[in-house]
Amino acid sequence: MITGGSLGPALGVSFSECRDAQVKPLTLKSLWYKTIPPDYLLAKGERRMSINEEKLNQLLGKFVADFGAAFHAGLVVIGESLGLYKTLAQAGQPLTSAELAERTGTSERYVREWLCSQAAGGYVEYEAQTQRYFLTAEQAFALADEQSPAYLPGAFLLAVSALRAVPKITEAFRTGEGFGWHQHDHGLFRGTEMFFRPGYAANLVSSWIPAFDGVEAKLKAGAKVADVGCGLGASTILMAQAFPNSSFIGFDYHDKSIEMARQKAVEAGVADRVEFAVAKAKDYPGENYDFVTFFDCLHDMGDPVGAAAHVRGSLAPDGTWMIVEPFAGDQVEDNLNPVGRIYYSASTLLCTPASLSQEVGLALGAQAGEARMREIVTAGGFKHFRRATETPFNIIFEATP
Ligand SMILES: C[S@@+](CC[C@H](N)C(=O)[O-])C[C@H]1O[C@@H](n2cnc3c(N)ncnc32)[C@H](O)[C@@H]1O
Repeated sequence: MITGGSLGPALGVSFSECRDAQVKPLTLKSLWYKTIPPDYLLAKGERRMSINEEKLNQLLGKFVADFGAAFHAGLVVIGESLGLYKTLAQAGQPLTSAELAERTGTSERYVREWLCSQAAGGYVEYEAQTQRYFLTAEQAFALADEQSPAYLPGAFLLAVSALRAVPKITEAFRTGEGFGWHQHDHGLFRGTEMFFRPGYAANLVSSWIPAFDGVEAKLKAGAKVADVGCGLGASTILMAQAFPNSSFIGFDYHDKSIEMARQKAVEAGVADRVEFAVAKAKDYPGENYDFVTFFDCLHDMGDPVGAAAHVRGSLAPDGTWMIVEPFAGDQVEDNLNPVGRIYYSASTLLCTPASLSQEVGLALGAQAGEARMREIVTAGGFKHFRRATETPFNIIFEATP
């Protein structure tokens, strides 16, 4: 348990000093000066390294934000699952903690603490005079509207669910063994769908498909489409809604995801033109597909070259393969930024162990980059490969025979 009594002494400060950080920047002097003099020398073998106070202050500021965010992830998941954000957004007026608790059938004391955490983190606003809380239009857009292209709670559900595998992945670091996508906590599947769908809804039909040569016209006229590694079918269903003359089949090796995808197709009213089936990327059935899509899954596969060869064999002679991958540069140093941090971290817990759990176990990782993808796709027998378009989070590749 973290209290003023334990965290304070660990940092050499009292909690009231930590709170003042909102007005005073967190610095070595404000937090650690009393315990670590600025000329402190760190012995490391034969070398003695002097500490650069400014760099240490930067690291400290980063740590405080990250430590808060680590806890905050769980609280966003609680707020999403209990409808706390949605109820605040729909209230039309600021609410007290008691009012929010009553409207959501929850305990006031828990809700009050949750509201304080959210207000401290900038996810909820607080009116001190009335002791009421509300969401700004921007907060409601990002936290309470599942149809919004910026809906964020799914990202936190994804992260919290992935973190449940930390003991297993720690062990995998020692053994080198893999850990399959299907072995994760079930929240991961829902979190992935919740987080990815808004981005697909905002981009797939309006800009990604039009960036491909001749594909939009074929889909409008009536095409045969396979969406491989489809998960809960967010991309499959969006395409089926936009192109009613085409037929769609989503494949995934994970049976529980396929069950959930079938349910979602019924709820979306597209079950007449969408099927879902359990199959691996290297052996899904069917041939003469006009369009095959892989959304954020090629790098998760153990044998992406084998998958590419199977796609090549399943396509019509003038067919097209769309590969949606996480945004990445070719070199590690290109990806040392906030988006790269998310992807490398997710890749350590999810993508790399998933690939290592399958045959070949190539383990491309989520930051493979365009050059590596080109090698995979051309090794699978494709002659043409290009970056059709991109967003800050994704690169969309086009491959044709
Ligand atoms: C990151 S999730 C993406 C899911 C979905 N395409 C989306 O964008 O929401 C990766 C998916 O690839 C699937 N997958 C991994 N390896 C596979 C394989 N060899 N064959 C078929 N599906 C696979 C997983 O079960 C998982 O659903």
